[in-house]
Amino acid sequence: MSGTRASSNDRPPGTGGIKRGRLQQEAAATGSRVTVVLGAQWGDEGKGKVVDLLATDADIISRCQGGNNAGHTVVVDGREYDFHLLPSGIINTKALSFIGNGVVVHLPGLFEEAEKNEKKGGCPSLRAHPGPALGIGTTRKGIGPAYSSKAARTGLRICDLLSDFDEFSTRFKNLAHQHQSMFPTLEVDVEGQLKRLKGFAERIRPMVRDGVYFMYEALHGTPKKILVEGANAALLDIDFGTYPFVTSSNCTVGGVCTGLGIPPQNIGEVYGVVKAYTTRVGIGAFPTEQINEIGDLLQSRGHEWGVTTGRKRRCGWLDLMILRYAHMVNGFTALALTKLDILDALDEVKVGVSYKLNGKRIPYFPANQEILQKVEVEYETLPGWKADTTGARKWEDLPPQAQNYIRFVENHVGVAVKWVGVGKSRDSMIQLF
Ligand code: GDP
Ligand code: IMO
Ligand code: MG
Repeated sequence: MSGTRASSNDRPPGTGGIKRGRLQQEAAATGSRVTVVLGAQWGDEGKGKVVDLLATDADIISRCQGGNNAGHTVVVDGREYDFHLLPSGIINTKALSFIGNGVVVHLPGLFEEAEKNEKKGGCPSLRAHPGPALGIGTTRKGIGPAYSSKAARTGLRICDLLSDFDEFSTRFKNLAHQHQSMFPTLEVDVEGQLKRLKGFAERIRPMVRDGVYFMYEALHGTPKKILVEGANAALLDIDFGTYPFVTSSNCTVGGVCTGLGIPPQNIGEVYGVVKAYTTRVGIGAFPTEQINEIGDLLQSRGHEWGVTTGRKRRCGWLDLMILRYAHMVNGFTALALTKLDILDALDEVKVGVSYKLNGKRIPYFPANQEILQKVEVEYETLPGWKADTTGARKWEDLPPQAQNYIRFVENHVGVAVKWVGVGKSRDSMIQLF
């Protein structure tokens, strides 16, 4: 048998030369912890704004899942920026932006966004899939087809694009054929796309990283502060969301590990972003939805239009069943409660606290969509504050009824609220501790 012993060059970084007696000690030293920002409802909670706030302190800001179906808005000095693939934090820092293997990267979109943002691009992982520009699926970004071919193992990755282009072209043609047979009306200009991809390959070559080694070095080398920006949200998660009306990736905390290649013990703070009411884009059950003047008021005051699709967002009261469920899956260490100011005009504010099915209270968030459609929501009604909170900059500036609302949410979810959003801009975020 030929010698199979690993030479020191074959060992993963950080393990070279350690004596067996020190292995346990080394294993205990797990490196830095990443800070994670995740959506706790059906998306558009204000993740971009929270990431922008935390980004001043970060060395690396990364995306771990989703694609350009995400739409994150940041408002700084009156100027509005929207991000779909690049992490939102990049406008205000010198941090490096990294796009993990769990993301489907639409390359033209990536470059377009980089151009719009003073050429601050993002380094994609070799293992990420360059998503097709198919214009199909619910957000018309080809997210479903891209993740489907990844799971079917017929997909192509950035590392394939950067190796033998003839081989890549053959596989790309097969993939396009596969997509065309799934979506017969789809027209794909295969030769044109290949030509463009060849151009993109040369542009991204110097930016691409082997994500596993990159993250390992970031966690274990010279200390780096790493911020992870979740896309989509808990209830859009392919496993834990309101299936089948979900996206195609894990938008909960597990997606951070699989989408970046980092171990769970390197997850530090997990901030859940919660809108002070609930919105949803597209179809699917929505127990606290208000198809009435309350829903219209939330929609118009909250400017609830999709950043990516331009669709009107459906609106309703805050739902604590959802938040408790999202917390069970994600283990939030604190919450950011955004858009409190949108509730300023209300005489009273309702909060969904429990569900009933056929007249009986159910102690769980139903997995089955037909059941979720049928639940009856039990509400608590809290007094409104009928005052403008947009100028509030500290806890004491908030009306007592607004403080009461925040404490009510904290107590029912069992997680402290660390930030309260009272406006679009970066400075209209009250930090509570
Ligand atoms: P994301 O997808 O979670 O990043 O959220 P989006 O950017 O899609 O949607 C959130 C919208 O609410 C954006 O237009 C933000 O500018 C806006 N926003 C965020 N926080 C607040 C807030 O506290 N108050 C108000 N009025 N708007 C906010
Ligand atoms: P951010 O990151 C709101 C919704 C879509 C659609 C369904 C599936 O901005 O919070 P897909 O693109 O996967 O085919 O979409 O999920 N959806 C979102 N809604 N915010 C998002 O992301 C969303 N990402 C996906 O509207 O109904
Ligand atoms: Mg959004």
